[in-house]
This record gives sequence, C-alpha cells and structure tokens, in this order.
Amino acid sequence: MQAALPALDDHRSDPMPPDQVRIAIIGLGYVGLPLAASFGKRYRVVGFDIDAQRVDELKRFHDRTLEASEAELRAATGLSFSCDPADLDGCNVFIVTVPTPIDAYKRPDLRPLESASRTVGRAIRKGGVAIYESTVYPGATEEVCVPIVERESGLTFNVDFYAGYSPERINPGDHQHRLETIMKVTSGSTPEVADFVDALYASIITAGTHKTSSIRVAESAKVIENIQRDVNIALINELALIFHRLGIDTHEVLAASGTKWNFLPFKPGLVGGHCIGVDPYYLTHKAQQIGYHPDVILAGRRINDGMGQHVAQCTIKEMTRRGLPTANAKILVLGLAFKENCPDLRNTRVVDILDELRSYHVEVDVHDPWVDAHLAHEEYGLRMTDAPAEGVYDAVILAVAHREFAALGAEGIRRFGKPGAVLFDVKALLPREAVDGRL
Ligand SMILES: NC(=O)c1ccc[n+]([C@@H]2O[C@H](COP(=O)([O-])OP(=O)(O)OC[C@H]3O[C@@H](n4cnc5c(N)ncnc54)[C@H](O)[C@@H]3O)[C@@H](O)[C@H]2O)c1
Repeated sequence: MQAALPALDDHRSDPMPPDQVRIAIIGLGYVGLPLAASFGKRYRVVGFDIDAQRVDELKRFHDRTLEASEAELRAATGLSFSCDPADLDGCNVFIVTVPTPIDAYKRPDLRPLESASRTVGRAIRKGGVAIYESTVYPGATEEVCVPIVERESGLTFNVDFYAGYSPERINPGDHQHRLETIMKVTSGSTPEVADFVDALYASIITAGTHKTSSIRVAESAKVIENIQRDVNIALINELALIFHRLGIDTHEVLAASGTKWNFLPFKPGLVGGHCIGVDPYYLTHKAQQIGYHPDVILAGRRINDGMGQHVAQCTIKEMTRRGLPTANAKILVLGLAFKENCPDLRNTRVVDILDELRSYHVEVDVHDPWVDAHLAHEEYGLRMTDAPAEGVYDAVILAVAHREFAALGAEGIRRFGKPGAVLFDVKALLPREAVDGRL
C-alpha cells in the first residue's frame, strides 16, 4: 500500500494526496530517465531536459542510453517530455538529476546544477519541494542550490518551499540492480519534508528507503560510496604495478588472497565514467576549502589515472621485446566505453591508453560495437573502426570486456593481429595463458 504523503506546508492541514503530486524531473540522462519512467507509472510527471534532440527521441520512446526500454516508457502513462520551461507550471515536486562534472583543473563544475536550480526557482510555487539527486559534496544543496531557488522564486526556504536530497545509486548497464531494487537514501530540509521525501520514494522503491537526519548526511553518504570504491581499486592497481615489476601475476595473487573470508574482491583496472573517477574530487574540493588536505583520496586518484599509461607501456615493451618496431606500428584497441556492455563514453580512461600509444607514433584503431561513432568523434575527435580487418595489427589491446569480445575468445581476437602480434588483456577476460600481458 502506498504511504500517505505528509503535509508539506505548516499552514495546510491535509497531506498532499498522490493525485496532487505533480513531479518535474530536471535532466533526463542515465539517472533522470529511469526515475521519470518509474514515477510516471503512478504520478503525473514532466520530464524536462535542455537537450531538444534527447526530448524528441524520448517522445518517440527511444532512449539512446539503453536504460529504459520502449515498453517501460510506454508503461509510464503519467509521463510527458518537454524542453520548454513553461511546461513546469503546476509542478510541486522538482527532482534535479543533472550532471556534476569536474573542470579541466579537476574542480567541481556546478554550472549544470546552478542552471537547473534557476529553472526550478522560476517554476516552484509556495509549498513546493526541490529534491536533488546529483552527486555533490556535503553542503552543496543548501549552500549553492537553495539560495538560487530562493533568489529566482522570491520564496523563503523552509517557510515557502523546501528541499530534499536523495542520491542515485544506479549502475548503467546493470539490469539486475535497478532503480526500484536498490535501497534509496532520503533526506529533507525539515523533519516533515524528510518524511514526505521518504514516502514519495518509498512509493516506487521496492527495496525500501533509508532516511537520514539531514541533507548533508545524505550528500556525504553518496560521495563516500564512490570514494570507497575508488580508493580500494587504487590499492589493487598499486599492487598490480608492484607485481608487474616482480613478474608475478596479480590475478593469481588475488584469487589466492580471495580465499580468505574478509578479503575484499576488487580487481585492477581503468577507473573511468561519470562517477567513481569524478566524485572524489567533489569531497576533496570541500575538504581543501576547510583547510584539510586529503592525502589518501588524492593518492588513489593519481594511481587510478595512471593505469591507461601503464597498459600502453606494457604493450609497447612487449612489442620491443619481440623485436617488433613501434614507430608506425598498427595497434587495435577493443572497447572505448568506460565499462562493459554499456554505450557510456563519459570520462572513459581508454583514451589514456590511446594518448600514450600515440606518443610512440603508433597508428591506433579503436573498435567498440556499443559506442555511437558520432559521439566518439564529438567527444574525443576519434574516428572509430567499424569492422577491424584481420591479420593487420602488431598488437591488440582488449580494453573493455564487452560480451561481443568475450564471444570472440582469444582465438577470434588474435585473428586481427599479424602472426606474433601482442595481445594485452586489460580486464583479464581471457585465460591467462592465451594472452601476452594483463594488469
Ligand atoms: N550515471 C550514473 O551511473 C550515475 C549513478 C549515480 C549518480 N549519478 C549522478 O547523477 C547525476 C546525473 O548523472 P547522469 O549520468 O544521469 O547524467 P547524464 O549526462 O546522463 O544526464 C544529464 C541530463 O541532464 C541534462 N541537463 C544538463 N543541464 C541541464 C539543465 N540545466 N536543465 C535540464 N537538463 C539539463 C542533459 O542534457 C542530460 O540529458 C550526476 O550528478 C551523477 O554523478 C550518476
């Protein structure tokens, strides 16, 4: 049964019944769209995005991120899409799911969040609630976003309008852990609003909700989930760098250590994507602002950011060891997406492998059956190879463990190479004896 939503406004005695809830989702990407589709099954929802092409595609039930199927979008009968802010009129719950990237100096780039807050501020009315889902540092919602909403709306925070924070935990490409099946952390700017936010999410999240005592606790909880992963992977990457120098196979060591009950199962690898490689900088920025210099978190970042270069150097060294010339050699890199079975290109660290290879004057072809070739060109100036030719490469680097590459197997992948070509397996997808190097 759906929980009754508590009153949002001290002056109104009735709770806001579900049929009065009008939700606006601001930003329809990997996070916003599944949320809009889920809420759209039981509430009236306006899905808003500034990208008119994205909105057009969604109106035709096409999701290029592959997170929501046509059937799921059709089932969300309360959901409409728009890129016109006028269509937000009448909404009383605004959920912000815009990107939170870093700039070239690895500082938080809050511009999308600020701009979305201006949109909310212009549309929100008395009694409205602005809930943020984007990953931020502790304090960002109340220190950065709320003042913008106040300024644009002319309303007073916690008197006329309220805020909430409920971080997203979805994992693109993972069809087992879905929005509804992952417990959701919730919070609000007053105890009553926290109850409202919690009940709202509890009405769609079957895994349940976890309400925190403040927005800052919920913001902190999200950012450290990704920092914990980043630092743990960095430790394993550092071990891989040490074992490489010692001539010991890291995966074999991990398999042995993993037989102990409390050994954590992290693997070495590239750490890319919009979250794990980015979010730590949000917390380190805040820490530095208050005079604390975070050593461990930044050391982890430094190690993880160096892994692409290490992969390229291992491949080049193996070529040299075999007497294969590197200048003008041809190398095929299989996979560009930041993770397997997913088209997401954002902050993929495969580009570090490419950059390092090019510094040796190697000719590099990149093939990824999941990635949109136009996007790859737009984002990275890369011309992808549609169908790599067989027998022409001096080395092949298997960078992403897409299922298509697993299906090819070592034999199929080696067919792209000349006889004696080097095969480096970044993800340890293939049997150890079938490859010439791995992390
Ligand atoms: N992708 C993930 O796996 C994931 C998981 C958990 C949390 N998050 C966090 O969720 C947030 C959103 O990430 P995402 O992956 O969905 O991003 P995304 O890039 O896939 O989507 C963001 C959408 O917001 C739109 N947008 C940008 N500025 C806007 C504005 N001012 N008004 C309206 N729309 C705007 C963009 O056009 C885009 O469609 C980020 O803070 C991210 O860290 C992402």
